[in-house]
Amino acid sequence: MAGPLAATGRLIAIEGGEGAGKSTQAAGLASALGADVTREPGGTPLGERVRRLLLDPAAGHVDDWTELLLMLAARAQHLAERIEPALQAGRHVVVDRYSGSTLAYQGHGRGLPLDDVRRLCDLATRGRWADLNVLIDVSIEVGAARRGGRHDATPDRFEAETIRFHDRVRQGYLIEAASDPEHWLVVDGTGTTEDVASAILAGVQERLGIDDAASR
Ligand code: TYD
Repeated sequence: MAGPLAATGRLIAIEGGEGAGKSTQAAGLASALGADVTREPGGTPLGERVRRLLLDPAAGHVDDWTELLLMLAARAQHLAERIEPALQAGRHVVVDRYSGSTLAYQGHGRGLPLDDVRRLCDLATRGRWADLNVLIDVSIEVGAARRGGRHDATPDRFEAETIRFHDRVRQGYLIEAASDPEHWLVVDGTGTTEDVASAILAGVQERLGIDDAASR
């Protein structure tokens, strides 16, 4: 679909709480669209090191603002090193978590002022928000059960958070999606992997007007 933005790739963020199946869906969507796939926090050598610091359950008390700024430091590097060059080269990018996670986790979850979180995300990304955020919504119970099924190690710093924290994150995502429907697509994540994947692909194609790799 030729539009004014057709010359640059589109940035699609896959969002959701723990155990929503984001990583599988991000990989599947990227392969269907012939897009690059990457993740946050991480995506670059520096970002992956910051990720280890952020997830480390042995990090002790991490101040909420410190957590926010580390997320954003990793994002600024990711954008400069990987995301922006790919978009400029005309490739679509699917990112497993982006600024929507920061609004949900550091804003709604931790309780940092949402206007500040939004403003700092904007600054760290020079105004680069996702063209579409796909929220894979599952209940806290389903997310926890799925996560429980794949535990082979100590829970990370976020997985170890309380049910109340994860509930604030989930409600926060739903609030963000409802307040900006142009940039959010909410998909029910409780179906099979294949059902969720087709709902995401159909929604992304409809909303962004982009073809899948097979039909190009
Ligand atoms: P991820 O590996 O996607 O967790 P999972 O796939 O197990 O859900 O992300 C790591 C954690 O980082 C996740 O718990 C959410 C958190 N996070 C934030 O709190 N803020 C952010 O801006 C980002 C990108 C992630």
